[in-house]
Amino acid sequence: MPIKRKTAPKKTKTKTLTARTDGNEAGKRHSSSKPTLFSLQSAAAILPRNTVPKFHATAPLGYVHPGSSISVTHFTVKDVDRILTEAAELEAMPASRRAQRYAKRRVALLFYESSTRTRTSFELAAKSLGADTTLVSSLSSSIEKGESLKDTGITLRSLGAECIILRHPNSGAPYLLARMTGLPVLNAGDGSHEHPSQALLDLRTILAHLPSSAKTAHNRYPRIHEKVLAGVTVTIAGDILHSRVARSNALLLPRLGARVIFCGPESLLPEYAAGIGPGVEVERNFDRALKQTNVVMMLRIQKERLAGLEIDLDDYIEQYQLHYQRLTALAPMAIVLHPGPVIRGLEITSEITDGPNSVIAEQVYHGSIIRMALLARALDSNLKRNEKASKHR
Ligand code: CP
Repeated sequence: MPIKRKTAPKKTKTKTLTARTDGNEAGKRHSSSKPTLFSLQSAAAILPRNTVPKFHATAPLGYVHPGSSISVTHFTVKDVDRILTEAAELEAMPASRRAQRYAKRRVALLFYESSTRTRTSFELAAKSLGADTTLVSSLSSSIEKGESLKDTGITLRSLGAECIILRHPNSGAPYLLARMTGLPVLNAGDGSHEHPSQALLDLRTILAHLPSSAKTAHNRYPRIHEKVLAGVTVTIAGDILHSRVARSNALLLPRLGARVIFCGPESLLPEYAAGIGPGVEVERNFDRALKQTNVVMMLRIQKERLAGLEIDLDDYIEQYQLHYQRLTALAPMAIVLHPGPVIRGLEITSEITDGPNSVIAEQVYHGSIIRMALLARALDSNLKRNEKASKHR
């Protein structure tokens, strides 16, 4: 929308730090004048119709948009069933139809930590639904210059982002972003807290390998209910203390009937870890845990979170590495999961990573499907919420 200026802006001789020096006269004028309606109106004009622009609003304390995925504890069993059902529907949909579903909707990825799987699969999932995506990473944005999470989130919202996918080294950062922006926030891993989309993709991977009697005639996957994983023992081994993946899985899988065994040395697995919830046990002896296991999930040692803690790697490998002899002797039928990145030769050998029990590559595939469903949930809920808001205006 063209805006006519009634009066020319006053010229000032005062130099400011924000004045542009690239010879662009328009740039000079804007940087030396106060923010005006001009910038707000032009931003509003390019927002998608279904977005309610709220340029200054901050939600009340504790607010989390219902389309968010911050913790698996926010999902009811019914929610999990809906997400997995939606995932199966999107997976089965022709790509051309899927690409119409959220055409031109805007999704922002905000990554303060490195990532391969989560970032790429969220981005490709959004694109396959037709959405426009933008990536803001802490190493190539104004975050490097000291911009806060709050201001970065508000900037993305002002640019029309309808949901934000956030990875952050600090536990709880997605709650802050959710409150500051009022947008659905999808937690792509926050510190040692949670990684909900990882737990959901792990669940889908496990379900794909359940005996076929548990599945319906028309579906590779059973419907989700409180006993869908009854009789399944999942051993999660390694650096439990720093693992958001272990936490999200331990908070989700027992609610669906699974038994979860945490396994690792005391320095990486404090005794109190079993108190995370019912259905979770601690077993220090990896061989004893493996004997009872249908699913083994290996975790890497998170060097970036050890904070001075020293580990004797030779001793660790001796006691906790998953290798051929161990697996074939103690759990030959178990499937092997790993959230990645895999450190071959440390927590797991190449023989197992590439072997017949490994479903690590399948996990990555399920990640892209699950993330489509989480994005659909976020974008649908945003639309419903904005429709409701416009009815009351
Ligand atoms: N599983 C996982 O979070 O992997 P990335 O760190 O590569 O995203």
